[in-house]
Formats: sequence, C-alpha cells, structure tokens
Amino acid sequence: MLQKPLARCVCAWNSPHFSLSRERNALLVSFSLSGAILCFSTKSLNPKKLSLSARRATTREVSTANQDKETSPLLGTMDTLVRYITGKSRATEVAHAVWQHIVQRGDTAIDATCGNGFDTLALLKMVSDESRNGCVLGLDVQQSALDSTSSLLNQSVDPIQKEQVKLFLMCHSRMQDVVPKGKSIRLIAFNLGYLPRGDKTVTTVPETTFQALQSATEILDSGGLISIIAYVGHPGGREEWEAVQALISTLPTCTWVCSKFEVLNRPKSPILALLFKK
Ligand SMILES: C[S@@+](CC[C@H](N)C(=O)[O-])C[C@H]1O[C@@H](n2cnc3c(N)ncnc32)[C@H](O)[C@@H]1O
Repeated sequence: MLQKPLARCVCAWNSPHFSLSRERNALLVSFSLSGAILCFSTKSLNPKKLSLSARRATTREVSTANQDKETSPLLGTMDTLVRYITGKSRATEVAHAVWQHIVQRGDTAIDATCGNGFDTLALLKMVSDESRNGCVLGLDVQQSALDSTSSLLNQSVDPIQKEQVKLFLMCHSRMQDVVPKGKSIRLIAFNLGYLPRGDKTVTTVPETTFQALQSATEILDSGGLISIIAYVGHPGGREEWEAVQALISTLPTCTWVCSKFEVLNRPKSPILALLFKK
C-alpha cells in the first residue's frame, strides 16, 4: 500500500535534495526540505511488509547527504538542467555542467573561441591537477580576446595553474597545428559569434567553423565531447548554425551521439549542440 507514496517521493525528489539508500534490512529515503533533512525508512525490504516511518535525520546522515551533494556532479547537472528548462539558467551553464562528466583532471581540452575566457577558465578548473599534466589550448583570432582571457585567468587562478593554459592567436580551422604530438583531446568547446563587449563585426563564419569542426571530429579522443553554442540572433548566425547542422548530420551513428538543446518558443535563443564520440 505504501509503495505508491514511496515511488512518488523517488520521482519528485530525484535532485540534489534527494537520496535513496539501503540501510540494513530497510530502504532509506532522505531529502532536504527548507533546510532540514528528513528521512523516511521502510521497516522491511519485503514489499508485502512495507510500512513507512518518518524521523529527522541524525547528524551523521545530514553530513553524508551534504557530502553527496558536493561530490556527485550528476546531481548538480540535473539541477542545472531543470533550471534551464524553467528558464533560470543559460545554455553555457548546461554545457559546463555536462563537461564535468567528460573531462577529468590531467586531460587536454581545447577552447576554440576564447573570447573573454569564461569557458577557458571553466575548462582549466576541470583539467588542472597537481602533476600539471592537464592542459587547455585556447584559440582566438583577436588579440583583445586573448588579453581578456589572460586577465580573467590572472584574477582567478594562481600563476602556476595559469601555465596550464596555452593561448594562440589563430583561426580554429588550424587547431590541429597546436595539439602536441601524442596528446589525446578530451573536449573541444566552440562558443560561436562575436566577442561580447568587443568588435561585433568580427564573428565566427560558416566556412572556417565548418573546417574547424571537421578537424575537431578527427582529433577528439574516443569518449570525448565537442560542445557548440551557436547564436542565431545576429546577422549570419542562423546560416552558421545551418552549416554546423549540415556537418553534424554526416556523423555516423556508430561513432557519434549528437544532441541539441534549444528553447523552442524563443527562436533567437542560443542553441547548444553536444557531440559525443563513442
Ligand atoms: C562568443 S565569443 C566566445 C566567448 C568565450 N568562449 C567566453 O567564454 O567568453 C566568440 C569568439 O570567437 C572568436 N572568433 C571569431 N572567429 C574565430 C576563428 N575563426 N577562430 C577562432 N576564434 C574566432 C571571436 O574573436 C570571439 O572572441
């Protein structure tokens, strides 16, 4: 009889505020509500003998629940996704949340459009490790963008950590030239369009974006991700997205899983495409 309420709990609280675990001979469901953590436990694992009792969480359970929240990136991603669906977070935040599942400390990642450096910084935090193996290769065609990225890194990380970023003033269609021999690339990020607060006439364009994406599909390691944010609201943006889509449609399903996130009733909102290489 009490299976239904339990199932409802599972559906409704599958978020950072919810956890389901097995405790000796019972199921323990805990979730936080207005700051307090509540636990519901069944008296038995046998569905015929299910009965539910509620109590406040012990100090140890509160601490475990908080640790789970901090250590499980999946829960954070789910939260970001729900925030995106409810109009409270942007496509870039969804992208960053997904990157965390792909990128590990010590990996090499490419930011193909550095701009003001927010994506470079996010990637650096994911690859950075004590042995200093992790690396972010950042590209942009504007010196002002690389300066802006460099200054953001100066403000945000220590000089030793900053050395794990290599910046290149060049077109991303030549990204293959900057990848050190033998390095496998885990993630390649494209944030297309123009530099915010910069020269709006310098934007990514379909021809070179197409070439860069082709290179990206070749140099990406298996298990890696190409992340593309396309802005369709500025002149040329829609055409560029169509070129990106044309390339995506040629990728074989045996190797690639390609997804798209888009706010359907806002035709000018950015589109997020995630290309996972199996
Ligand atoms: C929307 S901004 C990138 C935002 C950035 N990722 C951030 O976190 O702030 C797009 C950038 O792409 C750069 N860009 C344009 N054409 C490029 C090309 N062919 N190769 C590399 N970068 C290019 C622009 O100069 C601009 O800085």
